[in-house]
Amino acid sequence: MDSIRIQGGIALQGKVRIQGSKNASLPVLAATLLVGESSFIRNCPRIADVHSMVSLLKSLGCSVRWQERGISVDSSQVRRGEMPREAVTGMRSSLCLLGALIGRCSEVVMEHPGGCVIGERPIDLHLYALSQMGVEFTEDAGSLKAEASGLHGAYICLPFPSVGATENVILAGVMAEGDTVLEGAAREPEVLTLCRFLCECGAYIEGAGSGRLVIHGGRRLFGTDFTVPSDRIVAGTYLFGCIGAGGCVFLEQAPKEEMAAVMETAGRMGGRVCTSPEGIYVQAPERPSPVRIVTEPYPGFPTDLQSVVLAAETLGRGCSYIEEGIFENRFRILEDLDRMGASVCQRDARRVTVRGVEALRGACVTARELRGGAALVVAGLMAEGETFVSGCRFIYRGYENIGRDFRELGARVTSV
Ligand code: UD1
Repeated sequence: MDSIRIQGGIALQGKVRIQGSKNASLPVLAATLLVGESSFIRNCPRIADVHSMVSLLKSLGCSVRWQERGISVDSSQVRRGEMPREAVTGMRSSLCLLGALIGRCSEVVMEHPGGCVIGERPIDLHLYALSQMGVEFTEDAGSLKAEASGLHGAYICLPFPSVGATENVILAGVMAEGDTVLEGAAREPEVLTLCRFLCECGAYIEGAGSGRLVIHGGRRLFGTDFTVPSDRIVAGTYLFGCIGAGGCVFLEQAPKEEMAAVMETAGRMGGRVCTSPEGIYVQAPERPSPVRIVTEPYPGFPTDLQSVVLAAETLGRGCSYIEEGIFENRFRILEDLDRMGASVCQRDARRVTVRGVEALRGACVTARELRGGAALVVAGLMAEGETFVSGCRFIYRGYENIGRDFRELGARVTSV
């Protein structure tokens, strides 16, 4: 079922429950390696990237079981740090296994990690940070070998708050001898979740959620029972989906504390957004008001929701300006939106202007990456007539069942 067919032009109505967070589940699952006993991780989404992480953990010697409410991981038998090529090259977040494995085994061999094709996505910050902690890297026939006989604390200053590099320093830091001070750390909620998990296991990390972390290494960790928060990007996709397609929806369990910039943008687009203890309620405007957004590290507007705002603004009441501040090459949906009758002008690799048109028309389009693919589904909901989105395997990397979720909201969507 690699395609989705959408009969567009129907306003959304109803409520949908938001799945667990992909970007929080992955580093927490990687962190179970450090515990050396059993952990139970609740609310992990059933998505392709989590399945890949489960396979990776199994290949490393963990006993992993999906249960109704979560995943149990027993990492007591892990001895070696060699990761199979197919699993690593398909998923960039396998990179956070690097910090965890170097903490657990003193030698790691892995391929250069994969992930979505958005920009170059180098790993220099990961390598720089871990080398400060005593890790030595060598490259051999495309694979990366990391060795650390005496992993130690260090003073590290990241020139850019990379989420993945911050997670790797935390994972290695809790196992290192001595303290690690990390300046310029990413402040994304998923980093905070990873720190919370590790602290529940017995680690001691100061400054969690801030740009300066102090990780006190060398403490014994214990298994725990932990619940991953809901996915702020999935919630944001459905929120902007409603603003684009019209109607009013309730996003049950949306993590509103993590979505201030998102809700503020939705308000500027003319949406009425209210929160309750159970989630977020959104009422769409007749047509979105134009906005100016620049994607930034958290707490700024998230790059992972840039494409879906762009899609919603194709029917806006004027001209919007969107600047991608995190990745290059993150406007890969423009050709497909053009086929649907949108009017988007790309000024350069990082900036576009979107002139709202009266209507979009359904078309055959292709998902080429995760978030752009979800934005094409949203464009299909907004369009008149039928839209056929192929390449949905990219979307299933991060959304459990985007078709089912939009059907809950009254949309006419079928997986084919
Ligand atoms: C994570 C998220 C992804 C989100 C991104 C930014 C996960 C699994 N993925 O990705 O959904 O879009 O944060 O919020 O959590 N960079 C370097 N060198 C490095 C590392 C990164 O130059 O060593 C650059 C990247 O090319 C990119 C920017 O830094 O331009 C942000 O990358 P980073 O924050 O590391 O994103 P990820 O952890 O890969």
